[in-house]
Amino acid sequence: ILPNNATIIEVGPRDGLQNESKLVATVDKLRFIKDLQQAGISEMELTSFVSPKWVPQMADAKEIVEKTDCVGRQFVLAPNAMGAELALASGATNVAVFVGVSNSFNQKNINRTTDESMAALEPVISKLKEQGIFVRACISTAFYCPYEGKIEPEDTIALCDRFVKMGADELSVADTIGMANPQESYALFIKLKETFPDVLLTAHFHDTRKMAMANIFATLQAGVNRFDTSAGGLGGCPFAPGATGNVATEDVVHMLDTLGIRTGIDVKKVCEAVANIAQHVSRPIETGMYKLFTNE
Ligand code: HMG
Ligand code: MG
Repeated sequence: ILPNNATIIEVGPRDGLQNESKLVATVDKLRFIKDLQQAGISEMELTSFVSPKWVPQMADAKEIVEKTDCVGRQFVLAPNAMGAELALASGATNVAVFVGVSNSFNQKNINRTTDESMAALEPVISKLKEQGIFVRACISTAFYCPYEGKIEPEDTIALCDRFVKMGADELSVADTIGMANPQESYALFIKLKETFPDVLLTAHFHDTRKMAMANIFATLQAGVNRFDTSAGGLGGCPFAPGATGNVATEDVVHMLDTLGIRTGIDVKKVCEAVANIAQHVSRPIETGMYKLFTNE
């Protein structure tokens, strides 16, 4: 019942670094991206075109896109029309928009209610689609919100439905603060698969409570085979208190390897990428496979 292949969407250069307090030099980010590409990563979120006042770490977005070789599908995030324009001007061909199911979270993250964001994004998405751009829709607080608590699955599905009707090619559904359990993950993703058979469906788990791996196994059983992960387990949204890192790329790829699910990614090379970026981030990297790698 498990899939034979899975796709990893590496979010380290974006989700992984956006919350890093120390500014990481552009050249070190570019090295991280290149190392990850060489490890076999074929889909990646490179950066975000967001306000540099809100997220100073992403201020070099244009340079990051311009200096990255195109390998597979590379995303940049855009919260609004201005972000989408800047993304296109940099040459990006895959754009990720992001909205929270929870109004309170969306206000903190994008300074708009969920409805205001959706109304503003509708013409943005239709323009992107007209230009042949692949549109990924990231759905934050799909299970729990740091401000509002439990989110009803119906509300998450309704927001996904709006994005699909607007023309989104992919839904990346996120447990922003790592609170979902495997039963909830299975139940939501099986329903999403059923409801949206024609869009790419991706699971985005943060590992705050160390449940991400169990959630991934649960969603594999629901037929999901696309996972957002972050090398070194770096990450977290600056506007979601308690959001720690994403589930680690090296640990997820290792688990998938042992299950016979092919990703095309070399765990050792991911660990080498982590070793290089580790010197430039302030938090210690303590993922399972990286610790084994450094003790070798
Ligand atoms: P605002 O202050 O309401 O913006 O912020 P505004 O429209 O009133 O404009 C104010 C100023 O920002 C203006 O400049 C605009 O030009 C500028 P000024 O006239 O003052 O000089 N501006 C921009 N500059 C650069 N890029 C833009 C842009 N838009 C306006 N795109 C805004 C609204 C959306 C800009 C702000 O709230 C923002 O940048 N938020 C981004 C937050 C963010 O990056 N969060 C993390 C990513 S989401 C995430 O991590 C979750 C995810 O991983 C899934 C999960 O785990 O849940 C995806
Ligand atoms: Mg995230």
